[in-house]
Amino acid sequence: MRKKILEIQKIKNKRPLVCLTAYSKPFAKILDKYCDLVLVGDSLATAMYGMNNTHLVSMEMMIQHAISVTSNLKNAVCVVDMPANSYNNIKQAKKNANLIFKKTKCDAVKIECNGKNFDIIKCFVEMGIPVMGHIGFTPQYYKKFKVQGFNKKDHIKLLDQAKKIEKAGAFSIVLECIKGSLSKEITKSIKIPTIGIGASNHCDGQILVTDDMLGLSGFYPRFVKKFAKLDNIIENGIQKYKKAVLNKKFPSRKNTF
Ligand code: KIV
Repeated sequence: MRKKILEIQKIKNKRPLVCLTAYSKPFAKILDKYCDLVLVGDSLATAMYGMNNTHLVSMEMMIQHAISVTSNLKNAVCVVDMPANSYNNIKQAKKNANLIFKKTKCDAVKIECNGKNFDIIKCFVEMGIPVMGHIGFTPQYYKKFKVQGFNKKDHIKLLDQAKKIEKAGAFSIVLECIKGSLSKEITKSIKIPTIGIGASNHCDGQILVTDDMLGLSGFYPRFVKKFAKLDNIIENGIQKYKKAVLNKKFPSRKNTF
């Protein structure tokens, strides 16, 4: 396993892991100063491209955004989401994981669990590509948002999936929108770090979509806390610009050649 990935694993039980998403250079540069792990998430579909879900994200989109992120990270571990339908079978998954890994120079890829694809994780690990698993609400496989783990069947299923993902060799797992007490049980049952989003503070680390927590996306479900209101700041700047243009105050002599 790569050194940076091993360091992430060693943090389990010491302090919470700080993780966020990035899709571009300016965000990567800032996040690199504060985050242990930066995810180039396929959430870019909704956060950046205005799509209704992540189902139509392409390999090209992920690779382009990931290159702009990895080339601006020095410290944080960079994980890139494999887009929906890019890992439907082993042959296709191997080809696409290799492409993402080689072209973007990321540290690891992430795949969402469909209850069957543990062999794909094992295969990536054997190829030398570190993998992050993802269980609970997995947007690539669901149409409707639902918090997971409230009935016994779900509880057993999610605990079993986490154990199978660990056994397959993943270095970490995202727990998305899972009942808090179950997230706690999963976190205690496995040695690899769990990264929660809407999954309580019992996880080993936390992740949010950066555009959501900065107030940029307009998507604020219960598990998102707005740590800034960038929408207001941007609007304010645009209003000032408009006024200055209309009043012919911009460009001034200072801005003119
Ligand atoms: O795509 C994404 O941003 C994610 C996080 C929400 C974990 O998968």
